[in-house]
Order: sequence, then structure tokens, then C-alpha cells
Amino acid sequence: MDKKELIQKAIEARSLSYSPYSHFAVGAALLTKDGKVFLGANVENSSYPLCMCAERNALYNAMMHGYKKSDFLVLALSADTDGPCSPCGACRQVISELFPKDGAIIMTNLKGAVQETNVEELLPFAFSEDDLK
Ligand code: THU
Repeated sequence: MDKKELIQKAIEARSLSYSPYSHFAVGAALLTKDGKVFLGANVENSSYPLCMCAERNALYNAMMHGYKKSDFLVLALSADTDGPCSPCGACRQVISELFPKDGAIIMTNLKGAVQETNVEELLPFAFSEDDLK
């Protein structure tokens, strides 16, 4: 699967979004080294703080199928934004915990904008397990 196909999967994942409050559908697609793709979409709740983002759902989906950080290659996300859709702060913290430093994170939108980044660019000076020692 190439990056273009993975971006298409992230766009398709938006159809799984449950977002009756924000009406803002986000999709994510996570590619593993063995070629599997795990999808995530945002799932909202009438108790707003309980909303869960697409990126975290994709990572948790893969983990619940037995995959871990070292298995992940690329995480793509997409939403109907003006520029490439950027992960929220909570997702950046979770991505920095669960997604490898050398993995690619591809932020996109529905108009064809594509911006590739990585964990360290998204969350420099991240709090991590090292701080707990
Ligand atoms: N959302 C995501 O799914 N990912 C992000 O990184 C940004 C925000 C969702 C959460 C909520 O359901 C909706 O977008 C509006 O904030």
C-alpha cells in the first residue's frame, strides 16, 4: 500500500465517524509493517469531554488486534479543513507514546493538501515514560 492509497483509506474512514455534535468528521488510517491498515474515526458523546479522536481510535484499534509501536509505519489523517488536518494536543501525546519516532504522519484534507511530519515535530519536549523514572 502506498501513501496515496493510505490517504484514501483515511478519507474513507470519515464515513465511520459518529459526530452528531460537531458535524466534523475525521478519519485516520494506520499502516503496519506487514501491510495491514487499521482505521479510526472520531466518536463523540453528549457528554462532550468523552469524545474520542480518529487518530487515537486508529492506534487503539491496531493495538486491540495485537499490534504495537514497533509494528507501525505510517499514520494518515484527513478532515474537511482548509489546510492539512492537524492532530489535537491530546492525540499528539498519545501518538508520541504509541507511534514510532521514525514513522511518518501524513496530515491531509479533502482538497488534496498533504503534509508529512513525525512525532518529534508534532510534540517536541514530550512528556514520556523517561520522566517517570
Ligand atoms: N478530532 C479528531 O478526531 N482528531 C483531531 O486531531 C482533532 C479533533 C475530532 C474530535 C471531535 O469529534 C471533532 O473532531 C471536533 O473537534
